[in-house]
Amino acid sequence: MSTVSSPDSPWARERVSGLRGLDDLELSGRRVLVRVDFNVPLRDGEVADDSRIAAALPTLVELRGRGARLILVSHLGRPGGRWEADLSLAPVARRLGELLGAEVRLAPEVVGERARRMSEELAPGAVMMLENVRFAPGETANDPAFAAALAELADCYVDDAFGASHRAHASTEGVAHLLPAAAGRLLEREVTTLRALMEAPARPLLALLGGAKVADKLGVIESFLQIADTVAIGGAMCFAFLAAEGHQIGSSAVGEEEIEHARGLLARARQRSGGAHARLLLPSDLVIARSLDAAAEHRVLAGVDVPEGWLAPDIGPSSAASFAAAVAQAETVFWNGPMGAFEIAPFAEGTRRVAQAVAEAPGYTVLGGGDSAAAVHAFGLAERIDYISTGGGAALELLEGRQLPGVAVLERDGGG
Ligand code: 3PG
Repeated sequence: MSTVSSPDSPWARERVSGLRGLDDLELSGRRVLVRVDFNVPLRDGEVADDSRIAAALPTLVELRGRGARLILVSHLGRPGGRWEADLSLAPVARRLGELLGAEVRLAPEVVGERARRMSEELAPGAVMMLENVRFAPGETANDPAFAAALAELADCYVDDAFGASHRAHASTEGVAHLLPAAAGRLLEREVTTLRALMEAPARPLLALLGGAKVADKLGVIESFLQIADTVAIGGAMCFAFLAAEGHQIGSSAVGEEEIEHARGLLARARQRSGGAHARLLLPSDLVIARSLDAAAEHRVLAGVDVPEGWLAPDIGPSSAASFAAAVAQAETVFWNGPMGAFEIAPFAEGTRRVAQAVAEAPGYTVLGGGDSAAAVHAFGLAERIDYISTGGGAALELLEGRQLPGVAVLERDGGG
């Protein structure tokens, strides 16, 4: 039973990330610009889920303990280079202060004279935070002048923002060329764990993939079709595959392009000669409903041909049981994307059963951020998952085998 949350898998623990780390930096008394991913959900002006903040604590605590003066930088939402009061980091700075048990002063700007003065006044171990870095237009443009303005605030740079490491922005990439730079503990652990999952998983490896759009997950499906033993596909995404296999999909919203993508993946999976490729597991029954509404008429459909006028917001009980059985047989399970519209009570069962199976899995279990992480939190099962990545898009891109700009720049044998 995976009841104990271990930071790294047994096979990842022995590995090194290949990134420059905190031990490569002189930290005592230095002003350290720390990029964190505190892009967290807010509700009524307060942080609704602080797991990303908590995940950065080991790095922040270590840096403070080593006498560094911390200047935190993060984005929140997508303000598009303009000031947006609702996206101020004030609630985040408050929550971080509570978790750290220390004052976290928020600069009233991203870069500029006031931020510079505050950074100079920091005592060793003290923490300040810049305002939402995406208020500055130079951030997403990776503008060299903006990167230089960030660099001027500090003596060195630590990147712990795994969730934003797939973005080549000024605070995740540009600035790393301008200061002595290293990965924080979270970034290091994410990269080590996810690379080990792809390169040396304990087998059988099961990838459970769900969520809405095939187009967003093509690369990762392709990747797992090559390296996993089984790929199970649920969620709205499965209708592209079911349609590609000639099934009726009722009113499920799937574009022709997505069906084409799915057809291509199925064909490539079948054609792959020589090496073994994954067994593809699709739902065998569904929950169908008249609309995506808790009060809508709904029932279990034996089979996967969705009648006209119905949509299928969840997988059915037989599908959930066969996905759960695959989980129980796997030595390594990777899960990304819910199996259905789990936020709506009548359609939560498939995701709940799969989440329960993952929580009880005998193998090592990894969740790729985003909605599946929200689901295990909602079901109170998060503690029983071995590793929950803080990166949604970043985790998927890494698993596709793509270079993440925020990681590449920290590689020991290259970058800035
Ligand atoms: C995330 O929440 O996935 C990261 O913080 C990246 O956010 P972005 O997609 O707005 O760049």
